[in-house]
Parts: sequence; C-alpha cells; structure tokens
Amino acid sequence: QKGGYEHFMLKEIHEQPEVVKTTITPRISNHIPTFENEGISLDKLSSYNNIFIVACGTAMHAGMVGKYVIEKMARVSVTVDIASEFRYRDPLINEGDLVILISQSGETADTKAALELAKERGAETLAIVNVKGSSIARAADYVLYTHAGPEISVASTKAYMVQVSVMYLLAFQLAYAKGKISKEQLVEYTKLLENIPEQIEEAINLKPACQFAASKLLNADSLLYIGRGLDYALSMEGSLKLKEISYIHSESYAAGELKHGTISLIDDGMPVIAIATQKDLVEKTISNIKEVKARGAFVVLIAAPGVDVEDGVSDVTICLPEANQLLMPMVAAVPLQLIAYYTSVLKGNDVDKPRNLAKSVTVE
Ligand code: F6R
Repeated sequence: QKGGYEHFMLKEIHEQPEVVKTTITPRISNHIPTFENEGISLDKLSSYNNIFIVACGTAMHAGMVGKYVIEKMARVSVTVDIASEFRYRDPLINEGDLVILISQSGETADTKAALELAKERGAETLAIVNVKGSSIARAADYVLYTHAGPEISVASTKAYMVQVSVMYLLAFQLAYAKGKISKEQLVEYTKLLENIPEQIEEAINLKPACQFAASKLLNADSLLYIGRGLDYALSMEGSLKLKEISYIHSESYAAGELKHGTISLIDDGMPVIAIATQKDLVEKTISNIKEVKARGAFVVLIAAPGVDVEDGVSDVTICLPEANQLLMPMVAAVPLQLIAYYTSVLKGNDVDKPRNLAKSVTVE
C-alpha cells in the first residue's frame, strides 16, 4: 500500500512529479494551456473584475502562491482569504467577480460555506478540487479537478503541489487573455511548467541534506520560517507542515517584518529557516538573515543556485536545482516537506496521522 515507503507522506512526496504531469498535461496543447474543456474560455476568464481565492490551511497557501503569480503576470487584483474568516466578514464580492475555492477533499465545511456565500452574492465560483464528485465540486459553477489521486497522509504534500500547478495554468492564461504576455511568451512559460516535474524530481534527491537539517531542529522549542514575495508564500506552507507533524512551534514571517517585533524572539540557537529564491529580493532576505544570525539564530538556508552567501551567514545551506524563479515555489516546496517529514520521523511521531488532526474537516 505504501509502495515500499516507510510512510504515506514520503510516498506522496515521491508521487509529485507524476501527479503534476497528470494534472497539467490534459490542459495543455502545443504548449498552450486551456480550460475550454472545463467550460472556461479565455474571454470568460478575463471578464472578471476581482478575483478572490478562498480556502483553508495548505490549500490556502497554494492560493497565496496563486495570488503572487496572477497579480504579477496578469495585473488582476487577487484577494486570498481563510474560508472561516471570509464567510463571516461580509466580504465585498459582487456580480462580475470570481471566487476560487481550493480544496483537496472538497468537503471542508468553511470552504463550502464560503462558496455558498459567493453564489448568494452573485459572484461566479470556480472550484479547484481533488476528490471527484465532492460537495464543493458539485456546488461550484466551474470545476478544475486536480489529479493527485488519493492523499492518505494527513499532512498534505502532493495535493498542494497540483493545486499550485493549476494556479500557474490560470495565471498564464489570464496574463495572455489580458494582453500582458504575447503568445510566444505564453508558450515559453508553459514549457517551463512542463519541465517542472523533472526539477521536482531533482529536489526530491535533496533528501539527505533535508534529513541533516531536520536533525538540527529536533530539540528546538520554537522556530521561524522567513522569506519575501513568493518565498514568503512558501514559508507559510513550510511552517504549517513542520508544526503539524513535528509538534514544534513555528511561525512564518515576511522577512522584512521581523524587525517590527518578532526579532525579539531570537536567541542563541533558535532555528530560522530562510528561503531565498527570488532574484530581486534575495539581497534583502540575506540582510535579514544576517540580522537573525547576529542574534544567535541557527540558520538553515534554502536557496536558488547562484545565491551567494558569505561564510558564516548560514549554518546549513540547501541548494535547490536550477529552475525559473517564477516557478521556484514548486521546487522549493519539496525540501520544506522533507524537512518536516524527517523531523517528525526523527522525533518518533506518527507521521501520517498527527495528533488532533483529521484529513477532512467537515465541521466548522
Ligand atoms: C495541512 C492540511 C490542511 C488542509 C486543510 C484544507 O497539511 O492538510 O491544512 O489543507 O484542512 O483541506 P481541504 O484542502 O481538504 O479543503
């Protein structure tokens, strides 16, 4: 059942290259993405005034990556909401808006309630769901199924990865529909996405380095994940993954926000996991790393190739495989998953069934 792996989580991490392919391939023809078969035309996509992405937990983190990518490429405003907040905050949604619900199970109570609210307010709804025929899939105007297959581990890995891959397909199409990129650029971006499964595979080969990093985190009471831009979106997922299965307290923080309060937490030996993959922001992140290092932090740096750090800035460096920086979240997510996995294993926890958590949260 576990295909020779010790845990479902590790098996599912290994399945990621394949499930990304299965999710994107049917939606790409000659390197051009389309959702026409799912009833969503380019005209339709570009007709919306505002986009809201609503989800819980890991699915919400996939939405955060989507926000950065869609806004950057298509110049459309995207708001990401936690479903349990969205449904009670009287959100400013109207006819002409698109509300995207992301859910692996398609049964999450708050996400489902958010969908109903969006419909009541006249917005159109698009569900990105893994489980066929689930409640959220049935209730939405449009459905884009992810094809991760059954995810058994409570801590989500492959479902996140395919959700993010759909976010990219959406961003590319929107950018093209809005005239922000040419057809040639659309083809180039899509080719980059089509190559990502190989780069995910290479990132999975970072297992020994991730296991080593995990061995340094075991005794921490608390730690921080930091990054900027897409790296910040990713740090949220890294932090959630670690706390849910290792039971070590952790927080993700926008690196530039540290000095506004959180840096006071840093003392001798506190681990800080820093993600630095975005060229324009790397230098800024490195200077934040130096600030925490100067206060005694134990720094694990997850960096794109070519990110140059002086000696002594990081204690452990995990160098990612080469990939376009826009798509780097899909590559950099892997070591974050693996660090969480090995920390949980080394602590002797029940990796696939962490305490207090259920795979599907069908009550509010
Ligand atoms: C974390 C995790 C949860 C889920 C969340 C939403 O690893 O699995 O945070 O992502 O409960 O679940 P779905 O996607 O089923 O709506």
